[in-house]
Amino acid sequence: MKHVVAIYPGSFDPPTNGHLDLIQRGAKIFDELVVAILCNTEKTALFTVDERMQMLRECCAPWTNVRVESFNGLMVDFARQCGAQAVLRGIRAVSDYEYELQMAWMNRKLDPTLETVFMMPAGAYSYLSSRLVREIATLGGSLNGLLPPSVEAQLRTRVSVSAAGSK
Ligand code: PNS
Repeated sequence: MKHVVAIYPGSFDPPTNGHLDLIQRGAKIFDELVVAILCNTEKTALFTVDERMQMLRECCAPWTNVRVESFNGLMVDFARQCGAQAVLRGIRAVSDYEYELQMAWMNRKLDPTLETVFMMPAGAYSYLSSRLVREIATLGGSLNGLLPPSVEAQLRTRVSVSAAGSK
């Protein structure tokens, strides 16, 4: 019987309800879903990889076929290590498409056996991004309905500590 493993790579800094929506959809159609946090990012992250791993593991606990890992280097190499046949990516709007298409083509060039599968999150998350969430938290705005409650609490603490440190 076919057992399809997919990898869902990203920065997840922090994980949002949009990410969880996609994980839920992916968990329904793949036999196994590996949420993969990128370590070697050039961007300076707000949360460490360990913190993001702990947040995602807590949020993904209800799905028994989902696990959370981190990776360094090329995504296609980590996908191969996981035995994944597919990579899952979310498309929120047309503006995501060009970047995602370029990445999908390049990943196909690097590993023609790995298929990229695009899924849409719920419409309510079509404008949601980790970057905007970090900015709103820094400026003290409402994040109602956009983050898991434990992630929101950690984000509020982190931005208030950063603000106090920069005074
Ligand atoms: O959530 P993000 O930041 O949009 O995720 C981007 C990510 C992690 C999927 C992408 O940067 C990635 O796969 N990086 C790993 C390095 C790699 O494989 N680069 C070649 C991509 S074509």
